[in-house]
Formats: sequence, C-alpha cells, structure tokens
Amino acid sequence: MIRRPMVILTALSATLAIGGLACRRSEPPPKIEFVPGQFVSAKKCGACHKDIYRAWRQSLHAAATEDPIFRKSYEDALELTHGQAKRLCLTCHAPTVVVTGDYDLTQPVTREGINCDFCHSLKGTDFSQPQSPFVLDVGATKYGPVPDAASTGHQVAYSPFHTTALHCAGCHQYRNAHGVELLSTYAEWEQYTERGGTKTCQQCHMPQVLANIVDPKVKRVEGAFVNLHLMPGGHSRDQLVKSLRLRIMEMTRTPKGLRVKVKVKNVGAGHMVPTGSPTRKVILNLDVSTGSGRRFHADRLYQRIVLDERGRPIRKDSRMFTEARRIERDTRLAPGEERIEEFLLPVPASENAKVTATLTYFYSPHDRPETETRIDFMTETKQLLARWERQP
Ligand code: HEC
Ligand code: HEC
Ligand code: HEC
Ligand code: HEC
Ligand code: HEC
Repeated sequence: MIRRPMVILTALSATLAIGGLACRRSEPPPKIEFVPGQFVSAKKCGACHKDIYRAWRQSLHAAATEDPIFRKSYEDALELTHGQAKRLCLTCHAPTVVVTGDYDLTQPVTREGINCDFCHSLKGTDFSQPQSPFVLDVGATKYGPVPDAASTGHQVAYSPFHTTALHCAGCHQYRNAHGVELLSTYAEWEQYTERGGTKTCQQCHMPQVLANIVDPKVKRVEGAFVNLHLMPGGHSRDQLVKSLRLRIMEMTRTPKGLRVKVKVKNVGAGHMVPTGSPTRKVILNLDVSTGSGRRFHADRLYQRIVLDERGRPIRKDSRMFTEARRIERDTRLAPGEERIEEFLLPVPASENAKVTATLTYFYSPHDRPETETRIDFMTETKQLLARWERQP
C-alpha cells in the first residue's frame, strides 16, 4: 500500500536526475579517502546518505558536543574537577576522542558529537573496559544492519549487533567511580525484557520511515525504508505521550474532603520513566478548582534523588557524574508498572469542582530556570457536582 507512491516518487526523482544532467550540477559525490584510525565527517557520509544525514543532524546525538546546555554543564564540571572531567564527559559526548585523543576539541569531526562514522565503526560493546567500552574498527569498512548492501563508496560489513540494544549500551549505561549507577537505561531495558518486553531500543527510537537509504543518483535500492536517525526521547512530546497512561479513577466526597484516585501506568517505555540522568523528573499534578474560584493542588514526583558525600541532594548534571555517592530514593515508574496515587484535598462538599490531572516532564540540567525544559504531555479533566445538587 505505502510502497506504491514511493515507487512513483523514486521514478520521478530519477527522471529529475536524468533531466538535470544537461543543465544542472551532476558531479558524483566526492570519493572518500579512508585512513585507518581517522574518522570521516558526517557531511561526507551525508553526500550520499542524504535523508539519514538530515534526520541525524536534528538529533541530540549530533548536538552532543556543541549543544549549549551540554557546554555550560561541561565547563562547570571542568572547573569543579580542575579538568579531570574532560576524559569522562567526552567519552560519551564526543566519543571519537577515544581513538583520536582530541580532548581539546580542535578537529571539526570531534565536535560532531556522536556521528555516523563512530556508530558505524562500532563492532561491539565491552563492559570489561568501563573507561571506554567501545570495540571499534575505524577505517574503510562501515558496519550496518543491511545483509546484502553493496556500496561503491566504502566497504560494508553486515552487523547484526547494530540491531541490538547492546549497540546503545556503551553510553546509556554508566556507573561512576563511587559505584553509583547514574545511567541505567540499558539495565532497565534488560528488566523490561525479563518481564516479557520484546522491543529493542531501535524499534522504539529508530522506527522505519519512508526515505532513501542512499541518494538514488548514487544507487537505486529496492525498498524505501530507513531507520529514523532522529532518535526522539524525553525532549519530544510525541515520544512522551507514548510512555504513560493516565486516568482519574475515582472522586469521593468524605468528611475530611475530596478523595481522588489517579492511575498512572508505564505502558510504552522499555525502561523506567523517566530514564537517563537523575536530574530528569516526571510530575503528576492534581489541580482542583471550585465553583467559587478556590484552588487546591497536590503532586507526586517520579525521579531519583542522588546524594553527595555530605548527604545533600545533587541537582546539577555537572556535579552528578563525579560527586554522586548514593541513591537515596527512586520513585520512577518501572516498565509495565501501574501505580494508584491517592489524594485527599480539603475541597468543600457544597461546591462544584473541576479536577484536572496533568503529567509534566521536567528537566533542569543546571538547576536554573533559564535552561529548563517543561513539557505538559498528558492531561485529564473531570467535573464533580456539589453534593447537595445530586440529592433529590
Ligand atoms: C559515494 C557514496 C557514499 C558515501 C560517501 C557513503 N556511503 Fe554508505 N553506502 C553507500 C551505498 C551505495 C550503500 C549501499 C546501499 C545498499 O546497497 O542498500 C551504503 C551503505 C552503507 C551502510 C549500510 C551497510 C550495511 O551493511 O548495513 C552504512 C552503515 C553506511 N553506508 C554508512 C556510511 C558512513 C558512516 C559513511 C561516511 C563515513 C558513508 N556511508 C558514506 C554509499 C555511500
Ligand atoms: C547512535 C548511533 C548512530 C549514529 C550516530 C548513526 N547511525 Fe546509522 N544506524 C545506527 C543503527 C543502530 C542502525 C540500525 C538500526 C536497525 O536496523 O535497527 C543504523 C542504520 C543505518 C543505515 C542502514 C539503513 C537503515 O536505516 O537501517 C545506514 C545507511 C546508516 N545507518 C547511515 C548513517 C549515517 C550516514 C549517519 C550519519 C548521518 C548515521 N548512520 C548515524 C546507528 C547510528
Ligand atoms: C557514543 C555514545 C552513544 C551511543 C552509542 C548512543 N547514544 Fe544516545 N545519547 C548519547 C548522548 C551523549 C546523548 C545526549 C546528547 C545531548 O543532549 O547532549 C544521547 C541522547 C539520546 C537520546 C535523546 C534523549 C533525550 O533527552 O531526548 C535518545 C533517545 C538516545 N540517545 C537513544 C539512543 C539509542 C536508541 C542508541 C542506540 C541505537 C544510542 N542512543 C546510542 C550517547 C550515545
Ligand atoms: C518499548 C519502547 C521503548 C524501548 C524498548 C526503549 N525506549 Fe527509550 N523511550 C521510550 C519512550 C516512550 C520514551 C519517552 C519517555 C521518557 O522520557 O522516559 C523514551 C525515552 C528515552 C530517553 C530519554 C530519557 C528521558 O527520560 O528524558 C532515552 C535516553 C532513551 N529512551 C534511551 C533508550 C535506550 C538506550 C533504549 C534501549 C536500551 C531504550 N530507550 C528502549 C520508549 C522506549
Ligand atoms: C557514560 C556516558 C556519559 C558520560 C560519561 C557523560 N554523559 Fe552526559 N549524557 C549521556 C547520555 C546518554 C545523555 C542523554 C540522556 C540521558 O540518558 O540522560 C546525556 C545527557 C547530558 C546532558 C543533557 C543534555 C541535553 O541537551 O539535554 C548534560 C548537560 C550532560 N549529559 C552533561 C554531562 C557532563 C558535564 C558529563 C561529565 C561530567 C557527562 N555528561 C558525562 C551520557 C554520558
């Protein structure tokens, strides 16, 4: 069904390409010289893999080094640790450094963050090397998930590893020097599979979309699907709405006030919600407003509280990695977990009430309002009539 228009589209772009030969540019994409141990810029890969490049360019992976939110946090961390954090942070945020040693970010390719050539030179993840758990072959061969690929641009090797969660684990799983598991997305995903979950990271974060694996001018490839390299996560409302289900189950007038029961369930994430850095949280807000304009509020937090050496909560990413000593509390929602939250609010029985439950994703990496992300991603409202109105 979906393939038909795509065939026409491909035919159309082929016609355009032929028609364009006479009057428009038609240079073949530049040949890449591959040097063992040197990474190639994503721009060069993008000359042939145009659609994939466009999606990756907008991803947080492409922004991992240059993004101002990371930069500020990185500079703070360097200051706090007198430069010690450099190696640590860049191993995940500019991972080509593990081969090139360019820890001062002098080469443009280093500043591309997690780029094409890094992920497609990755052959395995080895947790016995926690400083740099990447098994790499940097050179002329590109490793990928297509069993029968053939390219004139470079050698290819079929890599089933690219379709497994282990491919993502080298960066999305981390225990710091004090033994605190700060990033546990991969371990949480393992729990999800133990409970019967069947999807990989890629199936949820890199769904198949209609696009060309390689520019049809370079090679005509049958089939028209690629894995979306945009990798939407907690910053994406579309991704967030898939994660949880929210329901106001019960509203009861009691002598002490209004009792409300709200159900929250992690239905769509293959890990905790939220996952990743402990500075992320999801908040369940319950708001009640009455006919006469009175307002009542209560909330529940889903997050991890991480303490430093002196037992104080850490609220900044810049301090998190180096200073975390202990996880005090973890109220996040496990995969498949359903939680019933009960609230009791002193709402007068004699008034009509509007009850609203909202789920908010909240992330403030520097613990300052200027750079915080706050996304209300799900809401439900119910009306409750005053008690006397319902009596005959
Ligand atoms: C000159 C054009 C060209 C350039 C430049 C290029 N590629 Fe390719 N690439 C191709 C073609 C053609 C294929 C084969 C597509 C097929 O047969 O399905 C391919 C296939 C791939 C595959 C799939 C391999 C598999 O077995 O799954 C990966 C991964 C890949 N390229 C990565 C890269 C990376 C990373 C770069 C930059 C370092 C790059 N490519 C640069 C043309 C190019
Ligand atoms: C974070 C790691 C990562 C980055 C960065 C990345 N890729 Fe991929 N790429 C993957 C994975 C994983 C797959 C396989 C997904 C699957 O099959 O489940 C893939 C698949 C591919 C394929 C095969 C076709 C497809 O979509 O399945 C090509 C070609 C490719 N990538 C090229 C690129 C290019 C070009 C870039 C940069 C513009 C890039 N990749 C950046 C991880 C990455
Ligand atoms: C080389 C390290 C590395 C690898 C491999 C890697 N990631 Fe990431 N990923 C990161 C970093 C670092 C960030 C944060 C970038 C930033 O915002 O500064 C990130 C961000 C993300 C986000 C966005 C989170 C948000 O806040 O919205 C998602 C989703 C994600 N990665 C999924 C994946 C998946 C799925 C894979 C495997 C196919 C993968 N990553 C492989 C390092 C990596
Ligand atoms: C069953 C689908 C599913 C699977 C499997 C899955 N994710 Fe997610 N992921 C989601 C959803 C939905 C969200 C948005 C909710 C959230 O932010 O927690 C998300 C969010 C994220 C985020 C953003 C963190 C945050 O909370 O802001 C990262 C990073 C991430 N996933 C990485 C991964 C990695 C790595 C894997 C594999 C080890 C993986 N995911 C497996 C569905 C999935
Ligand atoms: C083991 C890999 C790893 C290390 C080491 C690491 N990070 Fe990250 N970082 C990630 C991943 C993965 C994400 C994306 C989502 C998540 O899991 O929270 C991220 C996200 C971030 C973000 C949020 C960026 C945004 O735009 O949302 C900041 C800020 C950050 N890291 C700062 C740092 C600093 C500073 C250091 C060094 C002290 C560091 N990180 C070390 C993997 C790492």
